Amino acid sequence: MIAENELNQAIDKLFAEIEFPEKPEGLYDPLRYMISIGGKRIRPRLCLYAYSLFSDELDEHILEPAAALEVFHSFTLLHDDIMDKSDKRRGEPTVWKKWGPDTAILSGDVMSIDSYKRIAKAPLEVLPLVLSVFSKTAAQVCEGQQYDMDFENEKIVPMSEYMKMIGNKTAVLIACSAKIGAMIGGAAGFEAELLYKYGYDLGLAFQVADDFLDVYADEKVFGKPVGGDIVNNKKSWMLTRALEKADDKKVIFKAAEMPVTDKAQRDAKIAAFREIYESLGVAEDAKQEIARLTESALSYVADIDKNDILKHFADSLVGRAK
Ligand code: IPE
Ligand code: IPE
Ligand code: MG
Ligand code: MG
Ligand code: MG
Repeated sequence: MIAENELNQAIDKLFAEIEFPEKPEGLYDPLRYMISIGGKRIRPRLCLYAYSLFSDELDEHILEPAAALEVFHSFTLLHDDIMDKSDKRRGEPTVWKKWGPDTAILSGDVMSIDSYKRIAKAPLEVLPLVLSVFSKTAAQVCEGQQYDMDFENEKIVPMSEYMKMIGNKTAVLIACSAKIGAMIGGAAGFEAELLYKYGYDLGLAFQVADDFLDVYADEKVFGKPVGGDIVNNKKSWMLTRALEKADDKKVIFKAAEMPVTDKAQRDAKIAAFREIYESLGVAEDAKQEIARLTESALSYVADIDKNDILKHFADSLVGRAK
């Protein structure tokens, strides 16, 4: 089995050396920028970890598909930051802030296409299956993102609907990363399926943690604006849970209507929601839910050989919100 640090080094090298076409610079510079400013690269890492459970050879047949997952993810962020009016990503200005929304749209489009060129490097024996999982996942992410926006205009969203929404916008890509790694490594169908389920529940835990951190993180560590979900009236896990728990929901509806035109107003709204969450014990609930989902994820891979790397990955993923 390839050691974890060797896999991590392979990821670092992969993105240090990744190439996009030179011209037109206006189209491709944002791609280089987005990859160069980093990110946690959890999807390609998980893909390689899953692969390493079944194969010992690191070549372009796995490295290019692993890169595809990160390139596709980064494309979704380019568009997500326009949709969420977010001005910071990975501690740097977002692409739409730096180059304008028109560029962010088109560079995002070509980035999505670039990810297909890379996923197509999967070995021929598994290519049809890999392409089918990848395309299905890509469409589901868009579906989840649409629900995420639709929910901004709903007063209340049931927790079950919220879970379906994050299942699509976030969990399926993490699940797909684990499954594709396993498939390319030569896993049996049932093993690839178990890795998908592991990735899915871990992905749910990861998004609940992201929603928690949107309220409580240190912006320098988080790398994106804190309180963005509150300002945008996102039906985050925090708000969905608060609405489930509150006897008097009017206080929450009133806070949701607070104006956000300048920074002082935005800060006041964020403070109001922090107080609501505090009074209802929502942060504790979020931590419990993250732990429950992580445990559930690990239950799927309990019988897979050499699964320590998956336990370690799960811990590292939600550690930020413990
Ligand atoms: C951000 O993903 C979007 C979510 C699904 C929460 P990451 O938290 O993986 O972002 P980067 O790639 O590390 O910047
Ligand atoms: C993003 O969810 C999910 C996708 C990009 C598909 P968020 O909107 O919560 O992600 P952040 O917080 O901006 O990273
Ligand atoms: Mg979003
Ligand atoms: Mg966002
Ligand atoms: Mg978020």
